[in-house]
Amino acid sequence: MSLLEIDKLSVTFEGDDGPVHAVNDLSLSINRGETLGIVGESGSGKSQTAFSIMGLLAPNGRTGGSVRFDGQEILGAKPKVLNKIRAERIAMIFQDPMTSLNPYMRIADQMTEVLTLHHGMSKRAALAESVRMLDAVKIPAAKERIRLFPHEFSGGMRQRVMIAMSLLCKPDLLIADEPTTALDVTVQAQIMDLLGDLQKDFGMATILITHDLGVVAGFCERVLVMYGGRVMEQGPTEPLFAEPTHPYTRGLLAAVPRVDDEDAAMKAIPGNPPNMAAPPQGCPFRPRCTYAGEDCRVMPPLAPFAAGRARACHRPIAEVTA
Ligand SMILES: Nc1ncnc2c1ncn2[C@@H]1O[C@H](COP(=O)(O)OP(=O)(O)OP(=O)(O)O)[C@@H](O)[C@H]1O
Ligand SMILES: [Mg+2]
Repeated sequence: MSLLEIDKLSVTFEGDDGPVHAVNDLSLSINRGETLGIVGESGSGKSQTAFSIMGLLAPNGRTGGSVRFDGQEILGAKPKVLNKIRAERIAMIFQDPMTSLNPYMRIADQMTEVLTLHHGMSKRAALAESVRMLDAVKIPAAKERIRLFPHEFSGGMRQRVMIAMSLLCKPDLLIADEPTTALDVTVQAQIMDLLGDLQKDFGMATILITHDLGVVAGFCERVLVMYGGRVMEQGPTEPLFAEPTHPYTRGLLAAVPRVDDEDAAMKAIPGNPPNMAAPPQGCPFRPRCTYAGEDCRVMPPLAPFAAGRARACHRPIAEVTA
């Protein structure tokens, strides 16, 4: 049994202009210790997928389908069950650490609370464990600095504190949603290196959500490419990046600037992501896809085509150009 099994997940928001279909028919599974990247343009449904797993959807959101964690259904589970899973087994790192750190509480109090409340530790043991975790994320002088408030740390250091906090419960699954976008490039690289080391040390399954395909290439064994709330292509990172077969994946990769080739112009995909309140009929990428035909007015199923790989496309590139 996989650690996490998502089957036909849908997320719909009640909006002023009718329902917004943020995630449609999304299925994925992740094994213990595995690293999965989720990529796709803004608005493709990456964060809402993560929020569904955490039971953190906005109040106007509704879910359908199934999300099973270690065999237990999460969708529609009671708050008590969800709180327990979130405190003990699944952790999430958000893009902006200030949204999850309490500005009025010393780091020490925020960190130890998790351990005394949910893990029955004494205050003293909890403090020692928290300092150990800050050491692990390489916060200098952790023993003293744990007494500080969040605003007394730099952005990069705050993100380290967040990571330390998320690892306190030794989660089986870590979801990192754009964990480094708010940071400058050097700090980004440091944080990703650190996350990579911790992922290996702790052996936790990790879902990394990011716009940065380079980060995914370095971090993830498998990738899921999302567009318009749907999975367009998925598979092991290396072959997927080396030979993308979905026109959308190809477009995303072509839009990555290459440092080794000064002449290669970055080709952004023309057009804009769909309005999810009125999505196009059939494949959501159809209006921007140069390969699209009449058949694309019917959404293609996500079908396997090579070892571990699958795509949802009537007109995959390899076959169009062949
Ligand atoms: N509370 C809400 N009410 C209505 N629509 C919402 C709500 N929250 C999210 N959406 C819509 O759901 C869709 C998917 O959003 P999501 O946050 O998952 O995108 P994303 O892929 O994470 O994008 P980004 O890369 O910008 O973070 C978007 O069209 C968004 O506008
Ligand atoms: Mg997002």
